[in-house]
Amino acid sequence: IDIKNLRAVTGGVTTIDPGYKNTGSCESAITFLDGEKGILRYRGYSIEELAEKADFLEVAFLLIFGELPTKEQLNKFENDIKEQSVVDDDVKKILDAFPKSAHPMGVLSSLTSALTAFNPSSVNVDSEEDMYKTVCKIMGKFPVLVAWTMRKQKGLPLDYGDDNLGYVENILKMMFKKPNQEYTQNPILVNALDKLLILHADHEQNCSTSTVRIVGSSHAGLFASLSSGISALWGPLHGGANQAVLEMLEAIKEDGGDTKKYMAKAKDKEDPFRLMGFGHRVYKNFDPRAKIIKKAADEVLGDLGIEDPVLDIAKGLAEEALSDPYFVDRKLYPNVDFYSGIIYRGMGIPTEMFTVMFALGRLPGWIAQWKEMRNRKEPIGRPRQIYIGENLRSFKSISER
Ligand code: ACO
Repeated sequence: IDIKNLRAVTGGVTTIDPGYKNTGSCESAITFLDGEKGILRYRGYSIEELAEKADFLEVAFLLIFGELPTKEQLNKFENDIKEQSVVDDDVKKILDAFPKSAHPMGVLSSLTSALTAFNPSSVNVDSEEDMYKTVCKIMGKFPVLVAWTMRKQKGLPLDYGDDNLGYVENILKMMFKKPNQEYTQNPILVNALDKLLILHADHEQNCSTSTVRIVGSSHAGLFASLSSGISALWGPLHGGANQAVLEMLEAIKEDGGDTKKYMAKAKDKEDPFRLMGFGHRVYKNFDPRAKIIKKAADEVLGDLGIEDPVLDIAKGLAEEALSDPYFVDRKLYPNVDFYSGIIYRGMGIPTEMFTVMFALGRLPGWIAQWKEMRNRKEPIGRPRQIYIGENLRSFKSISER
């Protein structure tokens, strides 16, 4: 079948599939996902192996350019990113105009879109060279925006990165360095963040990635498309779940730690409450990322010497759900974000920043998907509908209504 001309081939038939549960929107060579078997691979490499052996920048290169980088390619990529990491000082004025209480995801989405105004050439991506430059620009500037967003909320001065540091070390320093104090890297935090970013780096056609591709399909620039992806990620049914999970676990703790009460609420169809961090559109067996992250949560909190009662509540909920027919029958398992917030909290990252950290990890995936969409010259995304409104009616003047 000529899939580019499916509409003509099928004689103009429109299929309806709310939530696109059964609809493939594109062909892609980036991420393979088998929800029944719990398999996730980037460019053919298993997520387990990448999380153990690769670092985030290598994974970013793999996703965006298709192959693991050689040492020279990786060094060049890292240096080119550093060179492009300066954010125009005027962006600080935009940040200044936001109230301190603004949610960091709204701020990040706005600043990412604003970057286009300061880098107008970034919309020219017709040659591989221009595309590469634009990729390095956003890979360099995005962590600065993330750090500034958090520092603004905390009332800390806005700094730039340190060119002597690796990508992830630099992010941590930009976020946490206090004025007039040396910042000492903690290898436990660097490893934990590196792993979390790798686990979030891509997940085929999820809500935010589909948004990035569909916005980009109108030939809007990369930064504008990413800004829309950030907004899509913000929602609690998607990336916002990591914040919602921690708020839920805190609420359960405050309420005396009765997990059974919240299990009952989640099962009650009259109650809108959902167990945040449970269920996934595609994984109907287990989320392989959740397995890795659960282990990481134990290790990181152990290494940092943190005993977090919220982790015990999380473990209790997960155990109960695994033996509860409601969750078993619906194949609802803890997803990647059930444990990520616990690690972020252990690292000292404020709850409202959790989804921003997810965006930081997802950035290379969004870029790779956007680049693939443009390289394959995909048509503009424009779904059809089944119209269920009124038939033709004649207009009534306002005095007759
Ligand atoms: N708690 C209680 N019941 C749930 C939950 C949950 N977390 N998730 C799904 N269900 C139930 C639904 O009520 C529905 O029950 P029914 O068949 O009796 O009506 C059934 O399971 C199927 O649920 P859907 O909403 O149809 O599944 P869908 O694939 O559309 O949604 C989603 C997937 C959005 C992830 C959902 O499971 C959810 O809301 N989970 C909580 C939010 C969350 O953790 N999101 C993060 C996802 S991972 C990520 O984005 C990185």
